[in-house]
Amino acid sequence: MVKKITIIGVGLIGGSFALALKKAGFAGRIVGAGRRIEPLKLAVEMGVVDKYTLDLSESVKDADLIVLAVPMGAMQTTLRAIKDYLSPTAIITDVGSAKSSFINDARAVFDDLSCFVPGHPIAGREQSGVAASLSDLFYQRRVILTPLAETLESAVSQVTELWKMTGATVELMSAEHHDKALASTSHLPHVLAFSLVNTLAAMPDRDDIFRYAAGGFRDFTRIASSDPVMWRDICLANKNAVLQTLQAFQGNLSEVQKMIAAADSDALLEAFQSSKQIRDQYCEQTVTEPNDSQFIVSPGGALTGCIRVPGDKSISHRAIMLGALADGITHISGFLEGEDSLNTLRAFQLLGVNIEGPTDGKVTIHGVGIDGLQVPKQSLYLGNSGTCMRLLAGILAAQNFSSELSGDESLSGRPMIRVTKPLAQMGANISGTEAGTPPLKVERSSGLQGIHYDMPMASAQVKSCLLLAGIFAEGQTSISEPGITRDHTERMLRGFGYPVKTAGNTISLSGGGRLTATDVDVPGDISSATFFLVGASIAPDSDLVLEHVGLNPTRSGVINILTLMGANLNVYNQREVGGETVVDIRVRSSQLHGISIPEELVPLAIDEFPAIFIAAACATGETHLTGAEELRVKETDRIDVMAKGLVALGIEATPTPDGISIHGGQIQAGRVDSKGDHRIAMSFAMAGLRSTGDITIANCANVATSFPDFVELSSRCGLRIQICS
Ligand code: S3P
Repeated sequence: MVKKITIIGVGLIGGSFALALKKAGFAGRIVGAGRRIEPLKLAVEMGVVDKYTLDLSESVKDADLIVLAVPMGAMQTTLRAIKDYLSPTAIITDVGSAKSSFINDARAVFDDLSCFVPGHPIAGREQSGVAASLSDLFYQRRVILTPLAETLESAVSQVTELWKMTGATVELMSAEHHDKALASTSHLPHVLAFSLVNTLAAMPDRDDIFRYAAGGFRDFTRIASSDPVMWRDICLANKNAVLQTLQAFQGNLSEVQKMIAAADSDALLEAFQSSKQIRDQYCEQTVTEPNDSQFIVSPGGALTGCIRVPGDKSISHRAIMLGALADGITHISGFLEGEDSLNTLRAFQLLGVNIEGPTDGKVTIHGVGIDGLQVPKQSLYLGNSGTCMRLLAGILAAQNFSSELSGDESLSGRPMIRVTKPLAQMGANISGTEAGTPPLKVERSSGLQGIHYDMPMASAQVKSCLLLAGIFAEGQTSISEPGITRDHTERMLRGFGYPVKTAGNTISLSGGGRLTATDVDVPGDISSATFFLVGASIAPDSDLVLEHVGLNPTRSGVINILTLMGANLNVYNQREVGGETVVDIRVRSSQLHGISIPEELVPLAIDEFPAIFIAAACATGETHLTGAEELRVKETDRIDVMAKGLVALGIEATPTPDGISIHGGQIQAGRVDSKGDHRIAMSFAMAGLRSTGDITIANCANVATSFPDFVELSSRCGLRIQICS
């Protein structure tokens, strides 16, 4: 029985292993060890490990299992450092990507390898370091173990059990087999991605090339953002197999080169056709993206009962930010424990703010005051959260230290010029990539100036970014918005004692004030409630009550739109909670009809459109949306992804540059891809209530960004939903 695990090298993989075990209820202790104190300290702060030590010999004493998660090049030295301090029954495993070299390193240090269970989880992400750890990184992924002839069976089964607890499936094979397979499927593609970037970078017109580099370049080279040290070590550790596959690749490439040179169109077409066929077949078999889950929703069912949806995401982000900048202690209740708001929480911890929780939605922030943020020791990784990145950019642009903000693949493609441009006008030195996307580099500020900004798009994130920067700026900052956007920042600033003026469509504040800590009670998120409003409207015999939903007037568009479509909604029990309007909503089934959505309601329902499109698909007649081009720059291009999904389910949907027309009809069984967009995944889940057969929704892991318990809560109400691989 494994009671104490020591992880040496707590980075992405070691950290995710520990997090996954904890989430699965591992009852023992997990100790982190390594050479550098910062990641270990962070691992303890993040609750990844229970304690840390820099003393390797100390770390392995009484450990039942030692997990080596150090770079391949450091394996042998690490093994030497711990050899004499191991308990006689200790099991040693690793997570390295080349197995023969690990075994050779082990043989060079140990005479007896019976306690060695070499391992390799086939999972990862471009981000490295403990801050990027995910508790579901190994969920439904493969872990390969390559035990030796002398490895004890009990050691293999204990390591297998632990990996299974992380949600992974475990396969056993020989080290040679593993190394050959991985050289082709993983190591070669990485070498090629690194090499392609360098090839293009060495070209004389490199700036032009990168300026126009689009999807193909990004898709092909995504993995060139991986950890260079790790990949250097892997190439050297698996040298022979990598060289063999490289040679095979060079052979194939020179064939293609010859075909192009000879303008041999038939041969070229045949070669490309065959590649396409093979890849399409492969993708068909493996629909889900790395580290992802899919939903399968069976038809029928009604939504009934009384539920409370999780806390409002926008308010949760802002509560952390203002609480951190305030003087005194802020207590938050109802905090959304979703990945997005947790990323904001972690970012402020890295900025030196002491934050306790969340525990059951409760967070305590020991505010550092307006001038108390500290230099982060690493780049701030914000996952999928555009709100966090844009608002934080406003705060960091005013600090007297430099910082860097990065995000996942979706966030890395989202427009940031909308904040960097006005921030630059205020005197900030902040830049993204040439395409105006993250990562953002924020240089140390020597002071900001207040400005007036006429916002070209209706964006609460841009407005909030500038208001937050304005707190630090000299003089007045004012923003005029072309359409009403959510006003949580203004309300919460006032709640923290900071005066903000709203006159017509212009919002302004003067810099130089301070914030006073206060308690924040976060209401349920109307955006999360929307899936249920739509689900219960379209499913016959539904009768559902949603309690304690935030219904800020700048977020009430969905209520108006669904009501115009004929929904049976009863909004009652209206009260004020911490400066926000809170209501209960009863929703019963109804026959919806198509409408032309009034454009002035668009910014008031901006996050609700994926679900509204499902309502439109179940309505009689046609629904038209215009004036909603902003939907194209959300977590995905929501017009395009929703239209494709609706068409795949047999609904007529015609996208336009700024909206969509949807002709209501019978939703058919089928497979849709949410493209990792949480709101799209949950919207299509509700479509199952009215479909003729199962709907499979791919890429649903990001539902955890805003609604971690969606599957549980929706099945409790009657949705026939399962998560599976
Ligand atoms: C948000 C503002 C909106 C919204 C997003 C959250 C916020 O984005 O879509 O989900 O919390 O300020 P825009 O400001 O880009 O419209």
